[in-house]
Amino acid sequence: MPSPQLPNSMAARDIAHVLHPYTNLVKHETAGPLVIESGKGIYVYDDQGKEYIEGMAGLWCAGLGFSEAALVDAAIEQMRKLPYYHGFGHKTTGPVVELAEKLKSLSPIKLAKVFFAEGGSGANDTLIKLIWYYNNARGRPEKKTILSRIKGYHGVTIASASLTGLPANHRDFDLPIARIKHVDCPHYYRFAETGESEAEFVARLARNLEDFIQAEGPDNVAAFFAEPVMGAGGVILPPKGYFPAIQAVLKKYDILSVSDEVICGFGRTGNWWGAQTFDYQPDFISCAKQLSSAYLPISAVLVPEHVYEVIRDNSGKIGTFGHGFTYGGHPVAAAVALRTLQIYEERNILGHVNAVAPRFQARLKKLADHPLVGEARGTGLIGATELVANKATRASFAPTAGVGAACMNFAQEEGLIIRAMAGDVIGFCPPMIITESEVDELFDRFERALAKTLAWVSQQGLNAAA
Ligand SMILES: Cc1ncc(COP(=O)(O)O)c(C=O)c1O
Repeated sequence: MPSPQLPNSMAARDIAHVLHPYTNLVKHETAGPLVIESGKGIYVYDDQGKEYIEGMAGLWCAGLGFSEAALVDAAIEQMRKLPYYHGFGHKTTGPVVELAEKLKSLSPIKLAKVFFAEGGSGANDTLIKLIWYYNNARGRPEKKTILSRIKGYHGVTIASASLTGLPANHRDFDLPIARIKHVDCPHYYRFAETGESEAEFVARLARNLEDFIQAEGPDNVAAFFAEPVMGAGGVILPPKGYFPAIQAVLKKYDILSVSDEVICGFGRTGNWWGAQTFDYQPDFISCAKQLSSAYLPISAVLVPEHVYEVIRDNSGKIGTFGHGFTYGGHPVAAAVALRTLQIYEERNILGHVNAVAPRFQARLKKLADHPLVGEARGTGLIGATELVANKATRASFAPTAGVGAACMNFAQEEGLIIRAMAGDVIGFCPPMIITESEVDELFDRFERALAKTLAWVSQQGLNAAA
């Protein structure tokens, strides 16, 4: 890393001028940034020329890696033709229409319309508004409480951050807002009771959900938001039978369900949608990230027929559907997204994910033998290891010990970018184009980082596990 002390370095200028998202701002003033300058395939390069495997595809999003020329061409072509237009007041553009058609053809739910926004937070905010609007329109103004899950991640705007079930997204932001409530996290490793089987755990979560709905009053509960695999909360997979059990409860009380596919959508779990992998049949889908392989910001909300008709009629009564973003359905982003989806099909990216996933999962699960790893979990091309102080008791390290962050830094030294999440969970979510030999290289680098972490943990006297 270049020294942030050099006053004209990019690092020093960054410290001087940029307010960083998801960063300890105090530390940043001395540690400075990693300046990423270029990318090729699954690799990115810093301004010193050092190579890193991007083990997180950026933020779980650059599915086609960092040098896909066809996407650059799609952007240039659309930029030359029409660099901007919008969809307000009966306007449209070709790429938006074609992308909506394409998403409808891929959708696992019987779809009426597609609404475009710029990112996952905006898509989820849109959904909350749509659901409230819908319930007002159908004469159910009291049916407004939205449920999501502890450790769920749905974004950072006021409503979507309220859906998010992580303390750092609420603390001192005066969140969550009223009418957004959190229910159980389905993480069997962490939250099962002693001796409880997976089936018993699922049954208990479904009972708890029903009790929660009863306490709120079923007439007050509008919707339930869930990621098929919980991403930023720690790559948490639902236990077997979870979604069917939860959905039976939701159906009983006329509660709409949303699958937040912002990470899982477009092949990440080996199917087009994470909902398909886990037998989840939602009413709505929100998606973003791999929709455009992250080359330009775009997200989409998939709206079913039965909801659309009510919303349509209500907008007719009011005179407009009073919602929309200046850059929602940006034609350049839509053209890039359309090309991305075509590439996923032309190159059979789903087939590729399913071919490489066994190697990825085998290398991941082997990490469970390491003295620091309490659980190694994953599906498709997404996974995580949870580092613990004691494997037998599953005791975590003190959050202040910074074990996950240390591991992330050691990985960076080894030329691997991964993500340390709360609870010392290390996430892996490489570009979907990764090959088997690159998977091996990723885990070889990570194993070296883990060895360094173990030595550091012992040196610090933190380890009760070795
Ligand atoms: C599942 C999920 N939903 C929503 C979001 C928010 O998306 P954005 O950061 O584009 O607003 C994210 C971002 O990581 C996500 O992982």
